[in-house]
Amino acid sequence: MSNKSVCICDFEHHAKRVLPKAVFDYYFSGADEQETLADNVAAFSRWRLFPRVLRNVSRMDLSATVLGQRLSMPVCVAATAMQRMAHPDGETATARACLLTGTGMMLSSWATSTIEEVAEAAPDAVRWMQLYIYKDRALTHSLVRRAEEAGYKGIFVTVDTPYLGRRRDDVRNRFRLPSHLRMANFESPDLAFSSKKGYGEDSGLAVYVSEAIDPTLKWEDVAWLKRITSLPVVVKGVLRGDDAKEALKFGADGILVSNHGARQLDCVPATIDALPEIVEAVEGRVEIYLDGGIRRGTDVLKALALGAKAVFVGRPILWGLACEGEKGVSDVLQLLREELHLALALTGCRSLKEVDRTLVRRSGHISKI
Ligand SMILES: Cc1cc2nc3c(=O)[nH]c(=O)nc-3n(C[C@H](O)[C@H](O)[C@H](O)COP(=O)(O)O)c2cc1C
Repeated sequence: MSNKSVCICDFEHHAKRVLPKAVFDYYFSGADEQETLADNVAAFSRWRLFPRVLRNVSRMDLSATVLGQRLSMPVCVAATAMQRMAHPDGETATARACLLTGTGMMLSSWATSTIEEVAEAAPDAVRWMQLYIYKDRALTHSLVRRAEEAGYKGIFVTVDTPYLGRRRDDVRNRFRLPSHLRMANFESPDLAFSSKKGYGEDSGLAVYVSEAIDPTLKWEDVAWLKRITSLPVVVKGVLRGDDAKEALKFGADGILVSNHGARQLDCVPATIDALPEIVEAVEGRVEIYLDGGIRRGTDVLKALALGAKAVFVGRPILWGLACEGEKGVSDVLQLLREELHLALALTGCRSLKEVDRTLVRRSGHISKI
C-alpha cells in the first residue's frame, strides 16, 4: 500500500479499490435498507467518555482473558465466511496475524480453509470455532469433533440465522463463490457451496442456507450442543435480556451480543445499545462479548465500560486481508491495539480492571467535522 493507513476507514477504502465488486458488496452489505448497518457504527457516538485524570498512566496492561484463555488485548477476530475471496491465503493468514498479535480468532463454519489447515497455520493461536447447526446433525457433530481434535478452545453457535437476511446487493449480483473456491470444511459440492450448482436468480448463499441450515432450532439445541462437546459453548446473536437468561438456563458458557454485523434482520438495535440490558440480565454469571460496528479504540473502551469482557471485529479484518494478507490483518489489529492503549491512558485506566460503568454516559446526537 502506498499511503499508511491511519484508521480502519483507510483500510476499507483501499479494500474497495482492490476487491471485485461482488466480493466487496458481499463483505460490506447489511440487510434490507441497512439502517442497522449504519447504526452499529453511529451508536458508539451517542456514548461519551468521562475520563479520570492524574493517574500515572506511564505503564499499561491491555491483557485480557476470554473463556480462560489469556490474550494480549480484548479485541478478537469475529467469524467471517469465505476469506480466500479477499486474499489467496484467506483464513490461514488471519490465524497467523492473530498469533503474532496474541489475540484470538473465531473461524467460520463457512471458511474457505479447513478447520485443520487453520490449526496447522497457527497451532499456538487461541482459536474458537463458529458453528452453524445443519439439518444434518451428524455433519454438525463432525464439525464440532474436528474442532475439538484440532485444538479449538470453544464453540460459538450462531443463533440468528434460521434463514439468511436479505442483502440486496447479493441478490443483484447473484452472489456465488468464485469457481476456484469452496467452503472447505465440506465434501459434497452442494454443502461446499460450489459455483457449479445452480442457484437461480437469487443470492446463492440465501439458497444454500434455506437448503442446508436447520430452521427448527430452539433453546433445547443449545443443551444438545453442550451434551456433545466438552468445549465451552457461547451463544452468538443475542439482543435481549430475556434471551440471555434463556441461554444461561440451557447451559451457555458465554453470550456474544451480536446482530451479525447487521446482515440478518434490519431495524434491530445497534449492539452497543443492546448491551446494557443483557449485562443487567446476566448479573455476572457468564462472560459477555460484543461485536458490530467496532472501528476505533474508543469503541472498544465503551463496550468494555458497558460490561463486555471483550469485543470481536468482522469487516475490518477483511479489509486488512484484502489490502495485504497476513500483514494487513496484523496492521488492523495493531492499529486497534494502539488506539485502545491511548483511549485507556487518556481515561486514566492502567488496565482493564480499572474500566467501569462510570466511564461512559449516553448523550444525544453527535455531529462530526
Ligand atoms: C462478510 C461477513 C461474513 C460473515 N460470516 C459469518 C459467519 O460465517 N458466521 C457467523 O456467525 N457470522 C458471520 N458474520 C458476522 C460476524 O461474525 C460479526 O458478527 C460481524 O461481522 C460483526 O460486525 P462488524 O463487521 O461490524 O465488525 C459475517 C460478517 C461479515 C461482514
